[in-house]
Amino acid sequence: MKSEEIMDICMRRGFLFPSAEIYRGVAGLWDYGPLGTRMKNSWENSWRKHFLSLSPNFHEISTTNILPREVFEASGHLESFNDALAECSSCHSRFKADQLIEENLKISSEGMNLEEINEVMRDNNLKCPQCGGSLSAKFFNLMFKLELGAGESTKEAYLRPETAQGAYLAFKRSFKTLRNKLPLGLAIIGKAFRNEISPRQGFYRLREFHQAELQIFFDPDRVNEHEDFESVKDKKLRIYSIEDRGKEIREVKCKDLDLPKFYLYYMAKIQDFYLETLKLPREMFRFRELDEKEKAFYNKIHWDFELNIESLGGFKEMGGIHYRTDHDLSGHQKISKENLMINVDGKKFIPHVLELSFGGDRNLWALLDLGYEKKERTVLKLPKNVAPYYCAVFPLMKKEELIKKAKEVYKLLSNEFSIMYDDTGSIGKRYRRQDEVGTPYCITIDYDTLDDDTVTLRDRDSMEQERIRIDKIMEILNEKA
Ligand code: GAP
Repeated sequence: MKSEEIMDICMRRGFLFPSAEIYRGVAGLWDYGPLGTRMKNSWENSWRKHFLSLSPNFHEISTTNILPREVFEASGHLESFNDALAECSSCHSRFKADQLIEENLKISSEGMNLEEINEVMRDNNLKCPQCGGSLSAKFFNLMFKLELGAGESTKEAYLRPETAQGAYLAFKRSFKTLRNKLPLGLAIIGKAFRNEISPRQGFYRLREFHQAELQIFFDPDRVNEHEDFESVKDKKLRIYSIEDRGKEIREVKCKDLDLPKFYLYYMAKIQDFYLETLKLPREMFRFRELDEKEKAFYNKIHWDFELNIESLGGFKEMGGIHYRTDHDLSGHQKISKENLMINVDGKKFIPHVLELSFGGDRNLWALLDLGYEKKERTVLKLPKNVAPYYCAVFPLMKKEELIKKAKEVYKLLSNEFSIMYDDTGSIGKRYRRQDEVGTPYCITIDYDTLDDDTVTLRDRDSMEQERIRIDKIMEILNEKA
């Protein structure tokens, strides 16, 4: 199976390891190894470069993972961030209700209330997979609860289930610091934590995971405009709306979609991230509109963006573009009693928020899946800007004079690019090793190099080799990047 083959590379070559593996691991917890960490950092840097450059008033901040109870009372997570679980009345095993229903009855229970879930399980005679006992549904809050401090002064707190709340809490000070201007973008790249009931599906549903989220605060009276809308108005978006269910994906120009211009502009920029920055095949991407039952509780408009991931069985959510209105800031104003209104040119209001929310780990898995190819050779055709190494340098043989020259070339390039040096095994095996981890280029130093200062540059995808001068390598690699 493709997912097992990719996971085999991930574990063998140092992308991913099960966390606490010597204790047999824990479902939903994974570590990134050396190559995985490089790839994650590169993906995050590509994300930063793409989204933070959209406006001079977009900034990255870094906020805490632990937040007090009041934050989640205000955001609605304490009340509404629940999954339905099905519990067996005999052996008390617990299952994620929507997963159990979908796997066994092939129907979706998305958005159903507890009564409806119980009815579906009862009417279809769905029993406990462990002991055959009867099942009943109940809600389970997905946040990890903590106690801060000891003794009488303990304080209830939670690990953040999304990075977003940090940006809402930092809004008041950031707005002032950044000279009272809207739109203001606050991005957080960091961890989020959810106590998923049954985190199966390998690397898809995790209990500790990475998010890259950009909260854009703006004036709600200007939701139907964006100063750069002209530049995207004719861009065709790949959409799968509620009315398209069961049909084909459509390509529709931004200006022909019935959504606010501010929202459409960022949809276009998200699509650009996948199709232009990461250069993924167009047909693998789509926006999917969520219906009233599927939408997150804080959203007025909610489309997910999805990639077609063979190892996960089709189009899967990579992130969402969320029009959260003033849901969060008004909630925080109410609970904290702090005034979160702003004054822009004499107009007082609570800004609205458009959130661009990405899951880092899912995006990484998607890139591994889309790049994986197994024919005569195994190769990961990763986008060049996220491959763990951009280039590998080899001496043709383990001879002192070749190693010396190869290390010189390695040194020359390693300030500029992420470079791997390898002198172990035959040259063919070394090429294969780099193909398997997605290194776009390999440079080989041979005896001709010692005579004429040229090297062989091999391309991962075409396997073509060209002879280039050492003093041109930097320029050529930069051009190819
Ligand atoms: N701030 C909005 C928010 O958190 P979400 O749809 O719940 O929205 C955003 O999460 C993204 O985070 C998802 O699209 C997904 O990529 C990622 N994500 C959510 N839960 C996850 C989990 N349990 N494991 C891995 N990634 C997850």
